[in-house]
Amino acid sequence: MKSLLQNKKILITAGPTREYLDPVRFISNESSGKMGYAIAEALHQFGADVYLVSGPVTISYSFPEEKIIHAKSAKQMYDACLPFFDTLDIAVFCAAVADYTPKTNYNQKIKKIENEIAIEFVKNIDIAFEFGKIKKQHQKSVGFALETNNVLDNTKAKLKKKNFDLIVSNSPNKDEGFGYDTNKICIIDQKLSLKSFQLKSKQEVAQDIVNAIIEMYNPVEIA
Ligand code: C5P
Repeated sequence: MKSLLQNKKILITAGPTREYLDPVRFISNESSGKMGYAIAEALHQFGADVYLVSGPVTISYSFPEEKIIHAKSAKQMYDACLPFFDTLDIAVFCAAVADYTPKTNYNQKIKKIENEIAIEFVKNIDIAFEFGKIKKQHQKSVGFALETNNVLDNTKAKLKKKNFDLIVSNSPNKDEGFGYDTNKICIIDQKLSLKSFQLKSKQEVAQDIVNAIIEMYNPVEIA
């Protein structure tokens, strides 16, 4: 099983992004990066050539520092991923990328004013969608979905829209996602068949995701 991923070039995005309003303020989310780093570490142990594009995280990790490219904003994360797109075998989009960014990132700290303040947002580039548009036959991509309602329909729609080969669905419930050490996932493939998993440590969940990736290459091997 190990040899199937040996030397496969794999890119993983992990963690949150920060969308700056001014030099000291930003909009972000609760993503800790634990899931993405656990997947990167598992794939690395399987002998894959793994690169991690990481948003700002404060977790401890054993993934080799020289294979991490640090990015803060969604734009920086996209710019870091783009040079890999052509030569990748697999992309795993685990980062919680902000959908929107402030239209203006002020050079100086925004001064307090008397009343309300309105901030205009513009849409960020969707890294996974961009890869999905250009990926070649042999290239695979894995995405994540975190939905609070119509979970299954929204997740399946995302799989199709972003041209993922697999999508991992997780929830924002206590113990199951953002920030926690555990996660409860289901994995959906392009045929829309679904596999549900129990609540597990993120390291164990990472193994399940790696197994699903290997299974894409050789379904018989896992059975
Ligand atoms: O549409 P949504 O943000 O829910 O999609 C989630 C999936 O798309 C995740 O795999 C996430 O990493 C990826 N994504 C991305 N770039 C964005 C937004 C989401 O790569 N700007």
